[in-house]
Amino acid sequence: MLLSLSSQNVIQYLQDAGLCSAEDGVLVESELPESSNKNLNLLVTLTDNRQLLVKQERNINNDGNPHEFFNEWLFHQLLQQFPVIGNISAIASLVLHFDEENSILVRSYLSEYLELRRFHQNHEIFPTEIATAIGTTLAGLHRATFQRREYRDFMATAPQGMFRYSFYNPAQGIGSLSPEIFGMVPHEALQFYVLYQRYESLESAIADLAYEWNPCCLTHNDLKLNNILVHSRWEQLDNCLVRLIDWEACGWGDPAFDLGTLLASYLEIWLSSLVVDPTIDLQESLCLAMTPLEVLQPSILALIQAYLDAFPMILEYRPDFIVRVVQFAGLALIHQIQDVIKSRKYFDNADICMLEVAKNLLTMPEQAVLTIFGISESEILQPVDKLDKLTQPENEKKLLRLYYEKTQLRGC
Ligand SMILES: Nc1ncnc2c1ncn2[C@@H]1O[C@H](COP(=O)(O)OP(=O)(O)O)[C@@H](O)[C@H]1O
Ligand SMILES: [Mg+2]
Repeated sequence: MLLSLSSQNVIQYLQDAGLCSAEDGVLVESELPESSNKNLNLLVTLTDNRQLLVKQERNINNDGNPHEFFNEWLFHQLLQQFPVIGNISAIASLVLHFDEENSILVRSYLSEYLELRRFHQNHEIFPTEIATAIGTTLAGLHRATFQRREYRDFMATAPQGMFRYSFYNPAQGIGSLSPEIFGMVPHEALQFYVLYQRYESLESAIADLAYEWNPCCLTHNDLKLNNILVHSRWEQLDNCLVRLIDWEACGWGDPAFDLGTLLASYLEIWLSSLVVDPTIDLQESLCLAMTPLEVLQPSILALIQAYLDAFPMILEYRPDFIVRVVQFAGLALIHQIQDVIKSRKYFDNADICMLEVAKNLLTMPEQAVLTIFGISESEILQPVDKLDKLTQPENEKKLLRLYYEKTQLRGC
């Protein structure tokens, strides 16, 4: 990396890159409050009210995958090349510039949108319209790219001078532990690793999930509620309610992984609101949640039903699709606990509850379906079955739906 970006040099950088001119003038530049440790995120506001989000990968030399921005850049190019998905407005690219050498990515910033996780936190409402819009959008992406070689080949492109031998399988457990763990995590958190290793059925369920991971379409691979934006006037919009952002982990993957990650993100709202006390058992804690599961269930159900409605074919290919979504949700909860331990060095009784729930999702997914969705698997599938029975000419079924949406304000 040649240049280390900061609020002092970011304007010069943008001018050199041709993204703004000296005349533009700059009102504010600030670090986003929600910035992760992973990246530097600078928000730059120009006098014409255009806002740019300038990102630089911080730990490029130290950890794991140094090519996350490259992935987002690749996705951006794919959208330009294939209008069938390029025209799905909820995933339209926001990328303006990519500098591989300095690992810098610039996106246009959508000031009219709110992060969906924060929206739920602040308003404590869970409108099903929003969940439906997400389900339909995601299904549109998965369906349009499903088993299409041209997209797969495109996503196999590697950064210059590198090879991409295979796609990353995200169905991973927490791996084997080494003695260094004692220095890296707080003492209380060791309990997480002890419990995790004690549940043999858990490790074998994750191993099975990894074995059956079946990459067959383009996936987001980090679809949490904080990577989804919702329009501040979502109630007045017919479409463009949501935008899926942060495509840094995208690739060729298993569609059940995306839905499972999203489902876990909804479940986290419930699980992080539990009343936890050593004198209360897990079942009681789960029932005493400040945000009960029943409040989230209509959205969770709307999400999966909108998805299956727009992509029923996935059930022919994977009859156990819903069960796998539930298992991937369990895995995503485990990864979430692990991320919190690593980044915030924190683990408490609420996390033990989360681990218990995650274990149940992974090892007893059939029973968990009823708990999570509030209805059985066959009831979830009923609307899809009905749709299937409607006589449709065979060739019409095979056609891809093309999405050419226009943002429209109701009554305008
Ligand atoms: N183009 C955008 N418009 C509006 N907000 C954005 C945009 N890109 C990112 N954000 C906000 O910044 C946060 C961090 O951005 P993200 O790309 O997800 O970075 P990270 O890699 O740190 O997760 C997001 O959760 C969202 O709240
Ligand atoms: Mg993010």
